[in-house]
Amino acid sequence: MSAAIQALQEQNSADLVARRLAAGAEPELAGMVAAIVRSVHQAVREIRPTAQQWRALLAFLTDVGHVSDERRQEWVLLSDMLGITQLVEEINARRPKGTTPNTSRGLFYRADDNGDFGYRTVRPAGYKVPDDGPVGELLGRLGYPLRRPAHLHFLISAPGFETVTTQVYDRSDPYIDKDPLLGVKPELLADFRRTPNERAGVAWSLDFTFVMARARRPS
Ligand SMILES: [Fe+2]
Repeated sequence: MSAAIQALQEQNSADLVARRLAAGAEPELAGMVAAIVRSVHQAVREIRPTAQQWRALLAFLTDVGHVSDERRQEWVLLSDMLGITQLVEEINARRPKGTTPNTSRGLFYRADDNGDFGYRTVRPAGYKVPDDGPVGELLGRLGYPLRRPAHLHFLISAPGFETVTTQVYDRSDPYIDKDPLLGVKPELLADFRRTPNERAGVAWSLDFTFVMARARRPS
């Protein structure tokens, strides 16, 4: 008796792979791989690439790996630039309405008894994300925005509260609605205001209130 062989067809391709994965020993990992496989198969059905186009995609991914090392992480850049890093952040940081949302991580200061703190720095400017690698080359070719709006990074922790890792953005930045990392949210916009008389060489000031969520008790 010969085993029934199910031939791969356009519509069953992902199912065939998923079934093989499900038979394995690590169901959670297999589930993740199957989800990615399903999305990629769906994209391939939609794009209908030629073999040459598919090889070009694999060559691009190979390049992304080749330029990555301990100091440069092109994969992280790709994830950042396609909104995936921020999506993972969204999924993992479900906070009550009104609290300060997280964005990606970037000096430590202590607040006083009222929770106020202040410090002096230069007024931040926007900057271009690294565009000399395969990710910048591809997205530049597609006219994708590559300039981040001006922002300050904050990491705020307090006992009994969820740590906030976030960025505060300069509302007046001309690229405020084109952040390639998609990290800008209305709650994170702030205004730099001219300091009257520029006392002590301080020309601009910025006030911002961070709202922290109470840490969830382990149930
Ligand atoms: Fe930054």
